[in-house]
Amino acid sequence: MSLPSASHVRQQFLDFFASKGHHIVPSAPLVVKDDPTLLFINSGMAPFKDYFLGNKPAPNARVADTQKCLRVSGKHNDLEEVGYDTYHHTLFEMLGNWSFGDYFKKDAIAWAWELLTEVYKLDKDRLYVTYFEGDAGDKLAADTETQNLWRTYTTDDRILPGNKKDNFWEMGDTGPCGPCTEIHIDLRDEAERAGKSGAELVNADHPQVVEIWNNVFMEFQRLADKSLIKLPAQHVDTGMGFERLMMAVSGVKSNYDTNVFQPLIQFIAKEAGVQYHGTSPATVNDQPATENEKTDIAIRVLADHIRAISFTIADGQLPSNVKAGYVIRRILRRAVRYAFSSLGQKQPFLYKLVPVLADQMAGIFPELKQQQQFVQRVIEEEEIAFLKTLEIGLRRIDALEEGFRQQGNRIDGKTAFELSDTFGFPLDLTALIAREKGLMVDEEGFQKELAQQKSRSRNAQEAEQSDWTIVSPAEEQPVFVGYDQEEAPARILRYRKTVTKGKTEYHVVLDQTPFYAESGGQVGDTGYLESALSKVRVLDTKKENDLIVHTVLDLPQDLDADFSARVDHSRRSQIRKNHTATHLLQAALREVVGAHVAQKGSLVNEKLLRFDFSHFTKVTDDQLRQVETIVNSRIRQQIPLDERRNVPIDEAKALGATALFGEKYGEFVRVITFDRDFSVELCGGIHVQTTGDIGFFKITAESAVGAGVRRIEAVTADAAEAYVNQQLDLLQQVREALGNPQHLLTAIEKQGEEVAGLRKQIEQFAQQSLSQQKDQLAGQVKELNGVNFLAAQVQVTSADGLKTLAYQLRQTVSNLVLVLGAEIDGKPQLAVMLDDALAQGGKLNATTLVRELAKEIQGGGGGQPFFATAGGKNAAGLGAAIVKAEAAVSTALHG
Ligand code: ALA
Repeated sequence: MSLPSASHVRQQFLDFFASKGHHIVPSAPLVVKDDPTLLFINSGMAPFKDYFLGNKPAPNARVADTQKCLRVSGKHNDLEEVGYDTYHHTLFEMLGNWSFGDYFKKDAIAWAWELLTEVYKLDKDRLYVTYFEGDAGDKLAADTETQNLWRTYTTDDRILPGNKKDNFWEMGDTGPCGPCTEIHIDLRDEAERAGKSGAELVNADHPQVVEIWNNVFMEFQRLADKSLIKLPAQHVDTGMGFERLMMAVSGVKSNYDTNVFQPLIQFIAKEAGVQYHGTSPATVNDQPATENEKTDIAIRVLADHIRAISFTIADGQLPSNVKAGYVIRRILRRAVRYAFSSLGQKQPFLYKLVPVLADQMAGIFPELKQQQQFVQRVIEEEEIAFLKTLEIGLRRIDALEEGFRQQGNRIDGKTAFELSDTFGFPLDLTALIAREKGLMVDEEGFQKELAQQKSRSRNAQEAEQSDWTIVSPAEEQPVFVGYDQEEAPARILRYRKTVTKGKTEYHVVLDQTPFYAESGGQVGDTGYLESALSKVRVLDTKKENDLIVHTVLDLPQDLDADFSARVDHSRRSQIRKNHTATHLLQAALREVVGAHVAQKGSLVNEKLLRFDFSHFTKVTDDQLRQVETIVNSRIRQQIPLDERRNVPIDEAKALGATALFGEKYGEFVRVITFDRDFSVELCGGIHVQTTGDIGFFKITAESAVGAGVRRIEAVTADAAEAYVNQQLDLLQQVREALGNPQHLLTAIEKQGEEVAGLRKQIEQFAQQSLSQQKDQLAGQVKELNGVNFLAAQVQVTSADGLKTLAYQLRQTVSNLVLVLGAEIDGKPQLAVMLDDALAQGGKLNATTLVRELAKEIQGGGGGQPFFATAGGKNAAGLGAAIVKAEAAVSTALHG
């Protein structure tokens, strides 16, 4: 049987809602940039949050799409289940249709039913629906409207009430929310269905009775104090798990058996030389009972995780040790561990899966195919790094296992933390390994250790924020006027208090503002907010979703006054020079280094610019110089800024504009051009009027920031001049230090030669002196109880010299007992050397002897029976040590 194709099923969904007047939009990038409450898009509605909250009007009242989602952190986290069961994933596609203040429950329910039963032709008897039963705590009544609407389509025994957990959907701890109706499907065999009604298995974690679609009726907003308020309008937010829909329409019992995962699974099995058997443990907490189950879990983990890893990297998030980057690293390490332990892959493996996935997704998410090589490179480097410590860490767990068993089958927090800190084992990986061994992890203890470490480092505390207080309700969306003005009249719309590390500040939103909010690498503006009565400093400006949030030190007394908002002019003019220079730099890099150069991050502030880009080798000095030359010549050409706002995205792309992967672009974009044939970029930042304003551009550093990513730092204008002057000053100081020679380089070379010559001479002298001393010392040897004895203080410049001298004497004088002392760099040093036969005789031992003598110089040492050395603190004791030697040797020989 051939499986239904994923692209076809996806397209049917989009076409269906297009036919109902919906505007189809592309998926937003996975990584969330301007929302402090969310790291990754975790549901189809997240990119539309502002429309629900009324922060900005929706351009279309009806929208549909497929959205890449990640549920691996925060409120919605499915990571533990992935691989063990057949229907949870890290990355999944959520098919969604939305009404922004347009249709509500009736149409949503009618269309959901029509699509499932008439387009996808799912069996009506296998479908169950739920409605919200109400919640006393939130003072919400049962959603009988939804219950009644469903009665048009199905029978009462298939319309089930559900509690707040299942039937009241919330995006996060705060934000838009509302009651929902879920559609579940029972995919069990006829016989099983006859035995037990599907109604009993809804929301009971049964792998074949699963939710496929959730329709949320957004009506409320949850505030930080946990209370609910009504939203300004009613909306519909729906989400259908694409992979589960595929399972339903394919008539299979696992998401992994569909056309979404099969290409990956088959590739993994072939590459690893194993078979996929399609087994799965009965429940998530069951351990694999057989070898087949074990390899199957690993294959599913890999097929799943590679999707999350590849798409987040393609959307611009590199693995790292913080926030979103750490989440990705954790997933990647979890996958590496499965490949390593269950599939026997001791070399990087995951990166090989990328091309399969990229080809499969090229039609709907082309960003992966476009960056395939880069994504592979990043993954491979991560794998190499982790494989280095994985094996050692696993061995460490094995070694400690007995101890864990004795302490109540528990891996203590300290060890779990050590595993994370030293071997890079994320807590969930340790927990997983523990689970397999029938152990538990003291997660609380781990968190305690982590908190201690965090409080040792600085960035421990997150900001605490109050809810917004509305000063005057927004009639229209606040506007940014900063492209044309640095000063503008403004009124405060809302404010809130924020406490970070004990410091209180306030956030304010204005009806219009010239302040640029940090984004696209450009820092936020600073300045003043001034009324007739008050003047407050604006410390920073940031975006939160689409709100422009100004951080101010104090709250003005007259909140509802007329203000003037004024940006710091001189700071901003530095920033704009650095921003334009960044565009010129990127264009020049593409000319010099290659067209593969794609931006991977940037920072533009008043001091410098920093540009990260994909490139696999060091940019040579020669290339850097070429880049500088191009940028500076473009500056001197005084190319005027060509700024176009509200350009349709397709038109912008046709202009050849460089867009950033992982950036969320609307349908209209701003295009910044400096010479159509040189630099055309989609950009929301602030720029100079002509490149000439930049004055001068100078690169200050080039370095690596990660696998396949290089960084260039540079300065412009006054800062560039200052940088060059600093370098020239340094040169001048060097010149002076060398006595102002006419030819600096020749002088330095000459000096180098001189030093080398002198060094050689010193060595010769040292040799000579050694051999002279040797001859002299040989003459001082005397007979002592049947051996040739010599103890003397000598002049040497190194411990090596002392050793050489001792060996030379032993060669010259037979049957020798030798004690030498020397002061080397102010420190006393002793050496004892014995003739081999004496050392073996048993009466004398160089180590014993040197330790005894070393007492005189307050030191200690050791070595072998025939040769030992000691260092000490008291150089004045050297004489005494030498004198003592004779008695010590004599006693030893007698004894
Ligand atoms: N936002 C809803 C969900 O994610 C549709 O389930």
